[in-house]
Amino acid sequence: MSFDLLAPHYRWMEALCAGGQLQRCRTALLPALSVPQRVLIYGEGNGRFLVELCRRFPNVSVTVVEASAVMIDLARARLQRAGLAGAQVEFIHADALTWQPPAAAFDLIVTCFFLDCFREDQLQRLVPTIAEAATADAQWLHADFQIAPAGLWRVCSRVIVGALYAFFRRVTRLPAHELVNVESHLSAAGFTKWQRREFVLGLLFCDGWKRGEIASHDRHIT
Ligand SMILES: C[S@@+](CC[C@H](N)C(=O)[O-])C[C@H]1O[C@@H](n2cnc3c(N)ncnc32)[C@H](O)[C@@H]1O
Repeated sequence: MSFDLLAPHYRWMEALCAGGQLQRCRTALLPALSVPQRVLIYGEGNGRFLVELCRRFPNVSVTVVEASAVMIDLARARLQRAGLAGAQVEFIHADALTWQPPAAAFDLIVTCFFLDCFREDQLQRLVPTIAEAATADAQWLHADFQIAPAGLWRVCSRVIVGALYAFFRRVTRLPAHELVNVESHLSAAGFTKWQRREFVLGLLFCDGWKRGEIASHDRHIT
């Protein structure tokens, strides 16, 4: 699996296929987060989320685990262009399936359009590994695609997601071939969902999960 070939084209393809919707989805919950100190981002890609994170939380320390060297170069260049070359960002060029994060070190985990790259059997191992890196009160920002529950839009969303998998599997050799529901894995790792925002009629979602106590005024899911 490698996103290196696709990386230089990722930005214009995203603009063409989704306009600004993916970026709106990635960043939707940034204003709702408690100020983080140490952030662990998996599969950041070309750095669009990273720039907004560093703008909103200038004192944050960020670790990015990314398997594509080309994506890392693009993210570094984007940080520079944004005037954020001095931000505390460490890029780790590694496969998330084998990289072992430090235990209980991060109070914010970010997985934007990343967990959909994996099969169920891989997520069964990967999510607990990621969760071990989270502190006892950590937040987890998770954005991804989903299939609509019913109606014509269910058919449409199936077709769209199916086409995306066909494309990514061909170009990047992605191991996954369908969306896996990760909620049970996050719950099993001790996280509770407290917020959800949806975009494009629910095709995209951004969820806020949290470990430990969730204040009732923070909870936006019943
Ligand atoms: C679909 S892209 C999403 C990029 C970005 N987060 C976004 O919101 O558009 C998936 C990203 O995860 C990275 N990735 C996929 N599998 C990975 C793995 N096993 N370890 C580390 N990074 C991986 C890819 O290189 C790519 O940058």
